[in-house]
Amino acid sequence: MFRQFIRVPAISTRALTRSITFSAANQPRIRIGSIAPNFETETTQGKINFHDFIGDSWTILFSHPADFTPVCTTELGAFSALKPEFDSRNVKLIGLSAEPIAKHKEWIKDIEEVATGGKEFQFPIIGDESREVSYLYDMVDEEGFKNLSGGLVLTIRSVYIIDPSKKVRLIMTYPASTGRNSAEVLRVIDALQLADKRGIATPIDWTEGQDVIIPPTVSNEDAKKKFGDFKEVKPYLRYTSLK
Ligand code: BEZ
Repeated sequence: MFRQFIRVPAISTRALTRSITFSAANQPRIRIGSIAPNFETETTQGKINFHDFIGDSWTILFSHPADFTPVCTTELGAFSALKPEFDSRNVKLIGLSAEPIAKHKEWIKDIEEVATGGKEFQFPIIGDESREVSYLYDMVDEEGFKNLSGGLVLTIRSVYIIDPSKKVRLIMTYPASTGRNSAEVLRVIDALQLADKRGIATPIDWTEGQDVIIPPTVSNEDAKKKFGDFKEVKPYLRYTSLK
């Protein structure tokens, strides 16, 4: 029977291929604020322990359905080309699909040819042939879940944003047919990091440099001390420019 690990030694995907039972009842429940389950696995850049890989960085763990597929090719190319933007925010990227490392490596050559702007591909991809990480992070749809123990598994487009304390901070889930939005991924990283640094919240469609929201837990008196001027639209809706 699969055992859930939260803060304990990482699960080895090799061991799990032999012993794992993909039971819905025992599947970890990952929530915002929970510790990202740890695991050890093979990637295109060698073996990793996931928590060691995260280290002191923010990390985006994301899955894609399969190698040599069109939407995934555009997504991985775009994320790779944006590596300098992620680096400047102290964010690491790591991809995943339930395919072998050797196949990932062949596909990366295509991605470099057509989707990275001619640059080298920039981050590791997990070869989750054992389906352990896909199971651990629930990166499959109904059909995929039934096939975890044998059969075709196309992982969905899951995104987990994990902070340096290893806490899950944001979860996005897209179906296979819908490519993600790289600008949105960068935007939510900026929003999370600013919220942590300045104790604010961000309104609808916020982007870097726009006014932010003072949380209702901060009194007007404290808001004045902390942010200086602010605009009160309603007692519970107050904006500040953070200038
Ligand atoms: C794709 O990445 O292109 C894709 C994968 C699975 C289903 C549909 C599209």
